[in-house]
Amino acid sequence: TPVKVAVAQGDGIGPEIMKATLRILEAAGANIEPEFIELGEKVYLSGNTSGIDANAWDAIRNNKIIFKAPITTPQGKGYKSLNVTLRKSLGLFANVRPVTALHPFVPTHFPNMDVVIIRENEEDLYAGIEHRQTQDVYQCLKLITRPGCERIVRYAFEYAKAFGRKKVTCMVKDNIMKITDGLFHTVFDEIAKEYPEIENDVQIIDIGSARLAAKPEQYDVIVTANLYGDIISDIAAEIGGSVGMCGSANIGKNVAMFEAIHGSAPDISGQGIANPSGLINAAVAMLAHIGQSEIGDKVKNAWLTTLEEGYHTADIYQEGISLKKVGAQEFANQVI
Ligand code: NAI
Ligand code: MG
Repeated sequence: TPVKVAVAQGDGIGPEIMKATLRILEAAGANIEPEFIELGEKVYLSGNTSGIDANAWDAIRNNKIIFKAPITTPQGKGYKSLNVTLRKSLGLFANVRPVTALHPFVPTHFPNMDVVIIRENEEDLYAGIEHRQTQDVYQCLKLITRPGCERIVRYAFEYAKAFGRKKVTCMVKDNIMKITDGLFHTVFDEIAKEYPEIENDVQIIDIGSARLAAKPEQYDVIVTANLYGDIISDIAAEIGGSVGMCGSANIGKNVAMFEAIHGSAPDISGQGIANPSGLINAAVAMLAHIGQSEIGDKVKNAWLTTLEEGYHTADIYQEGISLKKVGAQEFANQVI
């Protein structure tokens, strides 16, 4: 029987890249049954400030697997970030974001880059505890807990072990935030001792992110707090080729959500030119998660071959390397 998946088409480029990806999954024979759910801009603008309707919650609770295209959070007061709501209310504590350069097919200055960013996904400044204190004073609380640190750090070492990775680097700012980031660092040192076969290293986030941008090949697995992980994963993806290339797995105890790392790209939406690769990679991770890794590998190999042959969307197109500039649907046709 097919695995039921709650599928959100998203906003902006979301529906274009979702259509391309679902066509590929169908052609590959993925044994899944999409149940389409409503969330994002349309729901927000209809007056529901949570951005997600009740039926969508039912589908998510029943299916436990979410495949989601990027959504637009309307600017302005009163709209809660749905991404934060989903991650927090479903307990999706780990956000796994691999970035691998595909030199020489996809242009990058960093041919040997192969890093996995493991971002804590529920706490830190993204815990959603933000308010106006007095007329001119606003506060956002940075929440760091010992169980939260233990869970994400252990996840990072277990990930490194499972995938044969050699080193885990922790990035924090504990020279300034001695208590909160200090706890993350302390827990990292404690848990690192349980994995003597894996190298470990702690870097302050400012020099760490600078070095990641200049010498990404020095990194293997990076574990970090929510905000830092959000920022450095866009940096890593962009220098590895394009933010449009990378997918993510949001892992919880009972529910998992798979999505591209980027947003709804309103600047290019409706033109059909978006890169569906991030969502395709998210789909590959989802197939592995639901026990269909053979089909996932098939998709991944076809995707690699398409890039190798030089069918490139505008974000990675380069004269002399690329063969043809394609849109999302033509890219999907080539993969199929
Ligand atoms: P963005 O990631 O949507 O776009 C940043 C830049 O990268 C733009 O120039 C865009 O054209 C380009 N880009 C992104 N994805 C691409 C792709 N697949 N192919 C080619 N080019 C691509 O970030 P931005 O513009 O800051 O945010 C737009 C909206 O997305 C906002 O409403 C934001 O809240 C939302 N967002 C949603 C996320 C989600 O649903 N998980 C994650 C991040 C942002
Ligand atoms: Mg982000």
